[in-house]
Amino acid sequence: MITVAQVEKRFGRVVALDGVSLSIDKGERVAFVGTNGSGKTTLLRAILGLLRVDGKITVCGSDVGREPEIALRSVAYIPQIAPPIEAPVGEVVRASAALRGVEPSAIEARARRLGLDLGACARTRFRDLSGGMKQKLLGALALAAETPILVCDEPTANLDGDARAAFFEQLAERPASSVVILCSHRLEEVRQIVGRVVELADGRIVRDASLSELLRELRSFRVEVALTEAGAALEPTLLALGFSRSGLARFALQVAQAEKIELVTRLLRDHGDGLADLSVVPMDDLSSVPGNVSPLRPKLEVVA
Ligand SMILES: Nc1ncnc2c1ncn2[C@@H]1O[C@H](COP(=O)(O)OP(=O)(O)O)[C@@H](O)[C@H]1O
Ligand SMILES: [Mg+2]
Repeated sequence: MITVAQVEKRFGRVVALDGVSLSIDKGERVAFVGTNGSGKTTLLRAILGLLRVDGKITVCGSDVGREPEIALRSVAYIPQIAPPIEAPVGEVVRASAALRGVEPSAIEARARRLGLDLGACARTRFRDLSGGMKQKLLGALALAAETPILVCDEPTANLDGDARAAFFEQLAERPASSVVILCSHRLEEVRQIVGRVVELADGRIVRDASLSELLRELRSFRVEVALTEAGAALEPTLLALGFSRSGLARFALQVAQAEKIELVTRLLRDHGDGLADLSVVPMDDLSSVPGNVSPLRPKLEVVA
């Protein structure tokens, strides 16, 4: 549905996109992640035909550079930064409804679910809405358009918890064949929705993996053991395995999923007598994705 081939974009000396290629098929839900300045917004804007780039981008078979209007009919966009529209909200809603061929009431219903009463702010200039209200309205406009492709740039950055949940609920209701692209610097927030994660760094794709692959790869565990008095002699063995001291007669080591079972089996089999306690704590799945600032809380699970 979307192909991006060898796309480059420079802003002066900054290379914002550096040879980006990817394709997105019908029904895919994709997150673009990466630190600030990695090129996410530029890539979205290129896909939307809002930026002139080197390389080629097609949306539903049309070349975005050559026929932007054809490609864009299939796409709705929630921008990261709201445009400074002077018109009152009611007019924005009517114009968008006419453009997309939907009823204004459909937009009002979407907005209501996000906690925004469009009747109450119909006369307010769009630019005078609060950041959160603008994001709710832009979300409602994009959701109501019911286009085959929805592109969202940090769509919930200004939303409160309830509105955020309501937004993701509406995303989840979209037809299975539709495409959703979600830009976020917090993968954790979008993990319920997406099946694929494209990570950008310095304008390049540095990872393109399914969510389950990524989680498997990133998953790590903290193995902690407490020694019995007799087990004190195990200290050199544990240090040689890479453990470090974590308390009185306690040692800990962080390992990847793949190494966890072997390590625990070996400890129990060869040194079980010297262990007073052994625990395995799953660590944050996603914290090692750049820019992802909010780790999941570790969950304690006593293995033996
Ligand atoms: N209109 C612009 N003019 C100049 N530089 C820009 C412009 N848009 C983006 N950039 C630069 O391109 C790089 C990528 O920016 P952006 O795509 O917005 O990153 P992200 O959305 O991942 O935070 C940054 O270095 C940014 O400063
Ligand atoms: Mg951005």
